[in-house]
Amino acid sequence: MKKWYDNAVIYQIYPKSFQDSNQDGVGDLQGIIKRLPYLKKLGVNTLWLNPIYVSPQVDNGYDVANYYAIDPQMGSMADFEALLKEAHKFDMHLLMDFVLNHTSDQHPWFQDAIKSKDSIYRDYYIFAGENGKRPNNWASFFGGSVWEKDPLNTGEYYFHLFDKHMPDLNWKNPEVRHAMLDIARFWLDKGVDGLRIDAFIHVAKADLYQNFPGNIDPVVAEPFYANRPQVLEWMNEFSHTLKAEYPDVYLLGEASSADVTLANDYLDPNGAALDSVITFRYFTEDLSKLNPNFSDQYQPRDLDFEAFKQNQVVWQQTVDKPNLYLNNHDLPRIATRFAKNDNQAKMYALLMHLQKGTSVIYYGEELGLRNINIPEYEGDESVDRFVKEATEAGLTKDEAMDMVNQMHRLASRGPMLWDDSPYGGFSNVEPWIKGINEQNVSAQDQEDDPNSFLNFYRKLISLKQTELFAKGAYRMLNIPGKTYVYERHLDDQSAIVALNFDHHSIEIDTDKTDVLMVVGDYELHDGKLLLEPDSGIVLK
Ligand code: BGC
Repeated sequence: MKKWYDNAVIYQIYPKSFQDSNQDGVGDLQGIIKRLPYLKKLGVNTLWLNPIYVSPQVDNGYDVANYYAIDPQMGSMADFEALLKEAHKFDMHLLMDFVLNHTSDQHPWFQDAIKSKDSIYRDYYIFAGENGKRPNNWASFFGGSVWEKDPLNTGEYYFHLFDKHMPDLNWKNPEVRHAMLDIARFWLDKGVDGLRIDAFIHVAKADLYQNFPGNIDPVVAEPFYANRPQVLEWMNEFSHTLKAEYPDVYLLGEASSADVTLANDYLDPNGAALDSVITFRYFTEDLSKLNPNFSDQYQPRDLDFEAFKQNQVVWQQTVDKPNLYLNNHDLPRIATRFAKNDNQAKMYALLMHLQKGTSVIYYGEELGLRNINIPEYEGDESVDRFVKEATEAGLTKDEAMDMVNQMHRLASRGPMLWDDSPYGGFSNVEPWIKGINEQNVSAQDQEDDPNSFLNFYRKLISLKQTELFAKGAYRMLNIPGKTYVYERHLDDQSAIVALNFDHHSIEIDTDKTDVLMVVGDYELHDGKLLLEPDSGIVLK
């Protein structure tokens, strides 16, 4: 059956950094409303907002204290309703981020749960251990143990996979599952078009009373809290219940560690029954050149291009509609991470987004934005540990911080650059995030420049929505070297996307003559395409 999201091109907005309308340094919903015409002109038709619920902002909104209200820094419910209405007027759909694995410790459920062992909310969370002894040695993704002492001093602990202020919900409890459905209904009843489901792969945990093998304590124990079989059972119930009530709802799940097999289980109507999944396993990295004398966590690395190609082709050939992205709020920006120059940043865009699947464009990607430099990551344990190790291994503090700024996810959350005013038109006051973008670019400057990133992305997005690129089959052509060449075909139409990341020119035989998009330099005659280094072309 045809669905509105068959042709979705999604634009991810990090609301805190997009547009501040009330000059408090934090982006807000009225700011997004103001920029809808810009987004319309860009050509995207679906918006995904990172969390905007009431939150103490320990994890920038992923720690939700009230799912039924908008964080006052970002606006009010009236602002939200206005945004939704305006977006729909522009024929755009809106996706809410949906955080169902954990809440904030300030959420009333948790506050009640730590008042008494008899609280009816006690079983909404995962309490375990006794006499001050943790049940196991598992580590949290944010460092340290997953267990934090019960503030009630019962000798028990509560489980948190992320920050200690983000206790995990107990999905074994059917009341939790029902409560989450009710929250989803509240937003879908308002007219929201879909949900980006945060960290759903973690809702099921193994038997808590067992250690994970390892010499360090605590130890990251992913097999015990990621992609467990019960995830399928609970998400199946969640997705089917919502789809029965809201047949048009679009469910986009974040499955960070999913390979193609798991992704297909999450997409299978008999599995998690989601419409799309975002994996973090796309970008295979070359770790061979890293300095072994200190942690690799923030050491910049190249893409392992060959492995990446193989990986992409497997996703393209195995998953019906892969999610296509280069950036998001949890990753460094591609223009800093892998692209060596502006040409390459554009080439990665052609590489990724013209493939088969649903594109997600991260705000600012369309301007070629790079990471910001954050002067201090005060109190961030993992950064402190990294800098200490790196300086002990002989690096200067500046060198270590430079690595952090290339690799840390916070550095990808800089303010959108709208114009040339002091804070880039994002705000009149200093933005909430203390970072400097050294690029001299803005949406305003790029508006009329035919060679700008912005106009390149406009063209790319409109091409993406043509029948051939929306529906066509995909076939990779094996051109040796650091190249990426593929064909899309549909009935009697076909096109090739040819990209040369190598140091020397490449030659490809082709019968195509119609040039749809170009980066860099090429020659095309007598059935031969010559592509210079750092150049790419789309031919039909
Ligand atoms: C989000 C992260 C967040 C985490 C915990 C994710 O996967 O994308 O930004 O820190 O979930 O909610």
